[in-house]
Amino acid sequence: MTIAVDGPAAAGKGTLARTLADRLGLAYLDTGLLYRATGMAVRAAGGDPDNPGDAEAAARALDPTAIEPDALRGEDAGDAASRVAAIPAVRAALLDQQRAFARQPPAGARGAVLDGRDIGSVVCPDAPVKLFVTASVETRAKRRVLELRQRGQEGIESRVLQDMKARDARDSARGVAPLVPADDAVVLDTSDLDRDGALFGALALAGARLRAGPQGMGGPHTS
Ligand code: C5P
Repeated sequence: MTIAVDGPAAAGKGTLARTLADRLGLAYLDTGLLYRATGMAVRAAGGDPDNPGDAEAAARALDPTAIEPDALRGEDAGDAASRVAAIPAVRAALLDQQRAFARQPPAGARGAVLDGRDIGSVVCPDAPVKLFVTASVETRAKRRVLELRQRGQEGIESRVLQDMKARDARDSARGVAPLVPADDAVVLDTSDLDRDGALFGALALAGARLRAGPQGMGGPHTS
């Protein structure tokens, strides 16, 4: 079983996807880390994340087992990630790894939760459960500032909001695998939900989708 969790930055999809995986005994893959690691590898090599040659070389050389998540959480990594992510050859290079994880989750898990931007639309279009987790950009910017402060970093809300709008625009406008809900995704707006509320909503939606089977999956749904 595969659960696809997509949505924009700081909508709460990472926490939600990790908790869902934990509760349901599934493996978890944060696909944003693959793009973040690729973007930062380009910068570390003195390259330009907007340059297709530099970015594709970094994506092809990426060793997913060597990724250090904590070093990739910053806004600089998010910015580099969204630049390399707009390059079709980079997406193609990272696609097989993601599909392999979903097909054969590690440690004998019976399924996987993948979170990203295009899991339901491109990576795992046949996933029986697809969630699109979103929230207003102002709410997401406020959450990101809180996260930064909790990590002891300075976060100026107006600046974070501006960067988030720029990243949303880049992710939504790109020609390949743009950030859009899959046709059969359930949209979960977390603007007015706390973590438990979002988890409760997601578990209810996932359960309903699994019980409904393929015939219950037509058209986008909003809760
Ligand atoms: O989810 P996260 O914020 O870590 O993703 C960083 C960037 O990586 C996103 O802004 C997006 O450009 C890119 N990304 C993507 N497709 C995915 C996951 C992430 O394009 N499946």
